[in-house]
Amino acid sequence: MFRRRSTTGGARSQEALRLVKVAKVYGTAENAVTALDSVSLSLSTGSFTAVMGPSGSGKSTLLQCAAGLDRPDSGRVMVDGEEMTGGSEAALT
Ligand SMILES: Nc1ncnc2c1ncn2[C@@H]1O[C@H](COP(=O)(O)OP(=O)(O)O)[C@@H](O)[C@H]1O
Ligand SMILES: [Mg+2]
Repeated sequence: MFRRRSTTGGARSQEALRLVKVAKVYGTAENAVTALDSVSLSLSTGSFTAVMGPSGSGKSTLLQCAAGLDRPDSGRVMVDGEEMTGGSEAALT
């Protein structure tokens, strides 16, 4: 129902989510924890993906960055073809 269809053969992206070299570090200096270390992925519209890994491996951080609830330190997040990184708080909301 929500799948984007294009009659022109894909003028718009069929990507629901794209992460390009997303990095996130909590804390500084000796307390620094790298939660995401240059994560890149692409998920197509209408697909299902499970994020799995041990506790502390960065699943929640990944999802928060992908949802625009948190900002990565570097890298880019695109949701449905729209850049989520770099906008204002109001724009993100
Ligand atoms: N707000 C935070 N401040 C400091 N460290 C954090 C914070 N949130 C997560 N971390 C650390 O980042 C790493 C990844 O955490 P998280 O994304 O919650 O992993 P998961 O959801 O897979 O358990 C862990 O080492 C965690 O301790
Ligand atoms: Mg978690």
